[in-house]
Amino acid sequence: MLECRDISKTYHSGRGKLHALRGVSLKIVPGAAAAIVGKSGSGKTTLLNCMGGLDRPDSGTVFVKGFDLHALSPHALSLFLRRDMGFVFQFGNLLSYLTVFENIAFPLRLNGASNRKLEHRTQELLDRIGLSGAGPALPHELSGGEVQRVAVARALAHRPRLLLADEPTASLDSTTGTTLVRLMFEMGRESGCTMVLSTHDSEVMDLADQCLHIRDGLLQGQENSDQTG
Ligand SMILES: Nc1ncnc2c1ncn2[C@@H]1O[C@H](COP(=O)(O)OP(=O)(O)OP(=O)(O)O)[C@@H](O)[C@H]1O
Ligand SMILES: [Mg+2]
Repeated sequence: MLECRDISKTYHSGRGKLHALRGVSLKIVPGAAAAIVGKSGSGKTTLLNCMGGLDRPDSGTVFVKGFDLHALSPHALSLFLRRDMGFVFQFGNLLSYLTVFENIAFPLRLNGASNRKLEHRTQELLDRIGLSGAGPALPHELSGGEVQRVAVARALAHRPRLLLADEPTASLDSTTGTTLVRLMFEMGRESGCTMVLSTHDSEVMDLADQCLHIRDGLLQGQENSDQTG
């Protein structure tokens, strides 16, 4: 489903050259939930962004379902992002002027879902994340954990094939974070979505099928977790 071959990325900034990724190769099994683990600055966000087409590696190839992601035309890439990708960020990144309902429905609208389908799917997701009555609320009326649940529902609304989540639990306490990831993996697995998240939390790592450790832009070796959650 998802394969990186020898991905490198160097940033040139005021601090000079920074080798954020130094030849990362990995394979994520279709339908698996993988965790990328590493210290701050190790390259997790850069790797996720390269895997999701949000950033472009200097060299190397990202294959998604066998096609070279960064060889797509801008039009094909934006179609891919809209239809097949879901993202969850560290701080939810909900649209503050849209209600919870509209936030979750957003990818469905972009993909041209009918009103009936959109309303049905959005309410189904609200029920699923335990926020059945919160549709009309605005994001600032939610707790941090609730915001992240809405972000997960939004990322999965259009049933993407690939979900990338960059430290989705970083702003939550450990119990709330683990509950969130358990819910995210459960919902993603039901629709056969391949998921990759980055985390520092060992409890979150235990929920993943596959753990990838990254250090200074290099992958440290892969371990398979015996727990499939
Ligand atoms: N736009 C940029 N310009 C220059 N350097 C950058 C840029 N983005 C990231 N870097 C550098 O690249 C390295 C990897 O950054 P990255 O954000 O991928 O790390 P991370 O593992 O996600 O860290 P964190 O856990 O703090 O989010 C860091 O040393 C960072 O300072
Ligand atoms: Mg990061």
